Amino acid sequence: MIRSAPTVALYPGSFDPITCGHEDIARRALRVADHLIVAVAHTSTHDKHALFGIDERVGLIRQVFEGEERIEVRAFQGLLVEFASSVGASLVVRGLRAVSDFEYELQMAQMNHELWPEMETLFLVPGARNSFISSSLVREVATLGGDVSPFVSTAVLECLHAKLGRG
Ligand code: PNS
Repeated sequence: MIRSAPTVALYPGSFDPITCGHEDIARRALRVADHLIVAVAHTSTHDKHALFGIDERVGLIRQVFEGEERIEVRAFQGLLVEFASSVGASLVVRGLRAVSDFEYELQMAQMNHELWPEMETLFLVPGARNSFISSSLVREVATLGGDVSPFVSTAVLECLHAKLGRG
């Protein structure tokens, strides 16, 4: 019997913090990949001031996917293509929520493909109820005292409250 090698996909991002939208994309990715590495970037192409440090972001994602044996969480520094090739993942998954995401995502996909022609980017679309959620909006709403409990898991909510000094 011929067995093909397991498909390893990478799901990179800042995840500051991980939202229900990210969770949705990661679970959908498991439909096309045998193993998913959630790759948490130390720094993003978008110039952002991170609310959570890299270890906090990685720790939260591990809590969110606890018990999911096909998901691994790793931090990475430097070029995504270099990290991807070092872990044997030529498939990169990104979520596409709206047309406004497209330009940035297209540029990244094409640049990554130029840098490492083996790499393919697969865009996955979240469910409609997750399509407006972003980490930056979650950070802003939480910072201004709004309720973000529908948009993040309990572990993330608790960590946000602790970070923002709320009981
Ligand atoms: O969640 P984000 O911030 O939109 O994720 C962007 C991320 C981390 C995937 C992107 O900035 C990235 O790949 N950074 C690593 C550095 C790199 O490879 N830059 C060139 C991208 S074409």
